[in-house]
Amino acid sequence: MLFDAGALQSRLAGCRIGGRLHCAETVDSTNRVAMERARAGAPEGTVVLADSQTAGRGRLQRSWQSPPGCNLYLSVVLRPAIPPHDAPQMTLLAGVAAAETIAAVLPGRVRIKWPNDLLVGDRKVCGILTETRMAAGGIDFVIVGIGLNINMRRAEFAAAHRETATSLCEEAGRELSRGELLVSLCERFGQWYDRYLRYGFSPVRERWLSRCGMAGERLRIRFGDGEQEGAFAGIDHDGALLIADEQGALRRVTAGDATIMKG
Ligand code: BTN
Repeated sequence: MLFDAGALQSRLAGCRIGGRLHCAETVDSTNRVAMERARAGAPEGTVVLADSQTAGRGRLQRSWQSPPGCNLYLSVVLRPAIPPHDAPQMTLLAGVAAAETIAAVLPGRVRIKWPNDLLVGDRKVCGILTETRMAAGGIDFVIVGIGLNINMRRAEFAAAHRETATSLCEEAGRELSRGELLVSLCERFGQWYDRYLRYGFSPVRERWLSRCGMAGERLRIRFGDGEQEGAFAGIDHDGALLIADEQGALRRVTAGDATIMKG
């Protein structure tokens, strides 16, 4: 079933995030459409939502499986007056909002993996792709794209992801309302964004750490040109991942892919 755009627009009317909601049946990528709208002047808080995507984008040039009728694919336009190097904090903020949305359905079962994965057990249920456009004086806008697997069944996942991905339905054992989850996600996102604008990154960082499932874990970080192992040592005040080597020396990681090592 498609989204009931009118009902969602009235539920979100006046909300900081989603107060302007554009619903589409199919787009190539909601991030691309949101970027196009932001370039044309779409205000902060605009949300582009699609029932399906034909070219859903993931991090590191990956694709995001986006079949119709079952999941959430949305992109949020933000225009924060922050230094460009703080833009990745938006990913962590969105991660906190998404984790709280999922926790309302699966209490105690969701954890965040730096920078953008939400896991239930060891399986990924949600991913976040943040793209920033610069202007002469700083950030022009940030697009935060969120893909949340809701009613997709295990058999529908591409074979490559069947053992590593999941959906809320698979975990909760029942179908869930995409509309209700969208409203909950937008409300939580708006609350965290308000808090961020008032008090800075520190409350987001604290909540992120309390929801993160990496404490005590050994990590392998893949960069474009190599990899490094270390122990998770938290996140820095700007959102960068901190890993400790054998001697306890800390290294900051601002981009890369983290794998939690087993055993
Ligand atoms: C990742 O985990 O690699 C990030 C996945 C982000 C997917 C979402 S779906 C909505 C938005 N539009 C896109 O093309 N990508 C993001």
